[in-house]
Amino acid sequence: MMPWNDRAGNFSPFKAAVLVGILLPAFYLSWGLLDGSLVSNAPVSPLGARPITELIHRTGDWAIRFLIISLCVSPLRRIAQWPKLINVRRMLGLAAFSYALAHFVLYAIDQKFRIGFIVSEIALRFYLTIGFIALLGLSALAATSTDGMIKRLGGNWNRLHMIVYPIAILGVLHFFIQSKIDVYQATLLAGFLLALFSYRFAHKRGFALTSPLVLIVIAVLAGLGTAAIEFAWYALATNVPPMRVLTANLHFSYTIRPAWWVFAAGIAVAALAFIRSLTKSTAPARNRASRATVARGTPG
Ligand code: HEM
Repeated sequence: MMPWNDRAGNFSPFKAAVLVGILLPAFYLSWGLLDGSLVSNAPVSPLGARPITELIHRTGDWAIRFLIISLCVSPLRRIAQWPKLINVRRMLGLAAFSYALAHFVLYAIDQKFRIGFIVSEIALRFYLTIGFIALLGLSALAATSTDGMIKRLGGNWNRLHMIVYPIAILGVLHFFIQSKIDVYQATLLAGFLLALFSYRFAHKRGFALTSPLVLIVIAVLAGLGTAAIEFAWYALATNVPPMRVLTANLHFSYTIRPAWWVFAAGIAVAALAFIRSLTKSTAPARNRASRATVARGTPG
């Protein structure tokens, strides 16, 4: 089946748009590679003077972003009451795997394929060890993502694919550790992951993800949790005074801290649920009205 077709084999503009979105970063990064700067090392490249190092970072960024976007599919299809969203989940998961694989291959190129050295680095450096475990996990998910494997594994498929959550945690931790002092992006992704865990937890506990109130509570908790993660990181892993970072959340002149972005995204999701509840409740009434109109024989 072509990735831009739906299950019935018809062209799906939505799937095609998602596919283009997945490929765009790869095209942009390849262009940076192919414009000659990789050979000449000239700082004219959009990827800078050290293209391979830059590519390692960019592919890592896209791997974790697509992984988190793929995790948004399940809660979002409930919140937006849009079941067809599930059709792009596999594509997004495979995108995360492909960027992670490219990230690893680029690392191996950077190390000039010295296998012994690479193995010892992965064994000795904690952030590489967890990156490697995350990559192994993503490989298992990609290998079992075909329709045939879904059928063959039956109920075990769902159990196996639950490992996507620990994989995402490892990916974000890997991001934190290598970011060293500036963990803005890593904190942002950790916050989104926290919100996603909260949606999952709320759904399991029987809270309706269509309720704007439930979603507002999650937005507030996820925002506070994000500030707490940032505080904990600076307290435990750096010499930066964590209270200064925490209070920076209340100053908006320099940057808007990740906690606020996570809160804002959560509120946007609650607004979406609210709008959806309005359209859902007016739809049957509209349908009833049009049925009555047809029954009365008035041209529509
Ligand atoms: C064997 C597997 C992996 C290896 C060897 C590896 C290696 C690396 C290296 C060398 C860096 C740059 C560190 C630095 O410059 O100090 C990095 C950064 C990063 N990696 Fe990995 N990684 C692996 C797996 C993964 C996976 C599975 C993900 C995501 C799911 C990931 C996401 C990232 C991210 C987000 C960054 C930071 C990019 C940035 O600075 O913007 N990595 N990784």
